[in-house]
Amino acid sequence: MINFLIRFVKLIKNKLICEIRNFYQNYFKRLGFQEKMYSKNNLDRTQGIKLINKILRKQNLKIYDEGNGMYSEHLIMFASIAFQSKTKINSILEIGTFDGITSILLSNLFPNSEIITIDLKDDDPIFKSIYERKDDKLRKKFILERNNRLSKFKNIKFIQFNSLKLTLNSLPNKKFDLIWIDGAHGYPIVCSDITNAISLANNNTILMCDDIWKNLKNSDPIYSSVAAYETLEAFNRAGIIKSDYFYKRLGKKYLSSEKFISLSRLTI
Ligand SMILES: C[S@@+](CC[C@H](N)C(=O)[O-])C[C@H]1O[C@@H](n2cnc3c(N)ncnc32)[C@H](O)[C@@H]1O
Repeated sequence: MINFLIRFVKLIKNKLICEIRNFYQNYFKRLGFQEKMYSKNNLDRTQGIKLINKILRKQNLKIYDEGNGMYSEHLIMFASIAFQSKTKINSILEIGTFDGITSILLSNLFPNSEIITIDLKDDDPIFKSIYERKDDKLRKKFILERNNRLSKFKNIKFIQFNSLKLTLNSLPNKKFDLIWIDGAHGYPIVCSDITNAISLANNNTILMCDDIWKNLKNSDPIYSSVAAYETLEAFNRAGIIKSDYFYKRLGKKYLSSEKFISLSRLTI
């Protein structure tokens, strides 16, 4: 009964936060802000949506809807980067493969690019304990499906190691044109991932980082944290990178826990 009451109060509180935030920054204002971020970066969101839907259809996946599982603005951002042919993307690094869906979408969007995607080893205790992979049977199925999916794409190289070893492992590419930082989201890993990604960037590299909370009461090492924001902001203040923050999802229901996706470029 107490648990039910706590959950109920939380639900009401979140709904109230959504309403208040939506009152000050309604959907159209949020969309306007988002589109401004795209044009500031010479990207076209409308063309991005068209292109990602074309690719999703080709892969027999549901068309873009931010409410659909792991879909979020990063897919439109990738597609709008692919559409803007001025940015030459020959090599891509994804930190955190998960089920490989983003990797195969990147492979379709950038067919001439080499994509390296990394994740922890299958027997790594952290790998086994996160993202509902505790159950042996389900984890084996997840691994089989991921491997099967990735194996169909010649320009994807899937390598398994802890991202802490990123600059110690000899990767085929010394520098990457696009880096998608989407492994562990909290301290200390994301801090190291961002630092390593910067050292693997060239002057034109686009660095993108997922799941950025600017404010959060309780951070954790894997899922939700202010670590990425604090790390990126430290690099921004030091004049090493310049970052913009895009809404991860635009709908009102996401306003109670606002998340962003960053897009950064080196400034030195
Ligand atoms: C959010 S998921 C990645 C989602 C995927 N990039 C996408 O766009 O759908 C995070 C992944 O990072 C992996 N991961 C967590 N910590 C890691 C580490 N230290 N090194 C490498 N991968 C890590 C997890 O195993 C998980 O599969």
